[in-house]
Amino acid sequence: MRLDDIDQVILIDRLSFSLPWPASAFRHELVNNPSSLLWVAEQDMADGDPCVVGAVVVWMIMDEAHIATLAVHPDYRRHGISQQLLVTVLRQAIERGAALATLEVRANNQAAQSLYKKFKFEIVGRRPRYYQDNFEDALIMTVDLSQRISPKLSYLEWLETNREASRLPNPEEVRFDS
Ligand SMILES: CC(C)(COP(=O)(O)OP(=O)(O)OC[C@H]1O[C@@H](n2cnc3c(N)ncnc32)[C@H](O)[C@@H]1OP(=O)(O)O)[C@@H](O)C(=O)NCCC(=O)NCCS
Repeated sequence: MRLDDIDQVILIDRLSFSLPWPASAFRHELVNNPSSLLWVAEQDMADGDPCVVGAVVVWMIMDEAHIATLAVHPDYRRHGISQQLLVTVLRQAIERGAALATLEVRANNQAAQSLYKKFKFEIVGRRPRYYQDNFEDALIMTVDLSQRISPKLSYLEWLETNREASRLPNPEEVRFDS
């Protein structure tokens, strides 16, 4: 993610969340927080110009990677873009020493929970009435990034196989920029 992506990122955020981040929050993460990992997915439009279609922000806190926000533009959902963003950012987090990834997700957000379960996140707790707009509970989900999926396969190696297996409409046209 670069500063000039922010206008497109906040548009996606507003289309995706009832409590979207303001532009200043993304700007702060990009400029002032060296522990923040920020990626966008871009798709080339018909005119050849790239357009941001998804974004993820992860905070590195000691050996924990906290997924702070993840959203894909509604017109580009169910094409594997959030999987690609997660593979990309989790790989970077592991390379920076993360042993655990964690996040909060709305109790009613089945799509996101299903996505995270694909990445072997498990529900480990609940924060009652966590969200200020409707007092919905948050579920806490975590995944052990240092686990071995099999004797021969680390989580990181498994992530790479996941990248290859995930569906993209046109892999050449979607780029992942940090
Ligand atoms: C959740 C979200 C990021 C998924 O993005 P996406 O690019 O459409 O997801 P993908 O195409 O990569 O799908 C990956 C997996 O997520 C799950 N998933 C995604 N959308 C789903 C839906 N509408 N219903 C059920 N499962 C869904 C599935 O397990 C899917 O795998 P599959 O296609 O093999 O079934 C997107 O719906 C979104 O931006 N939602 C609003 C913001 C949000 O809730 N963010 C998460 C905050 S914690």
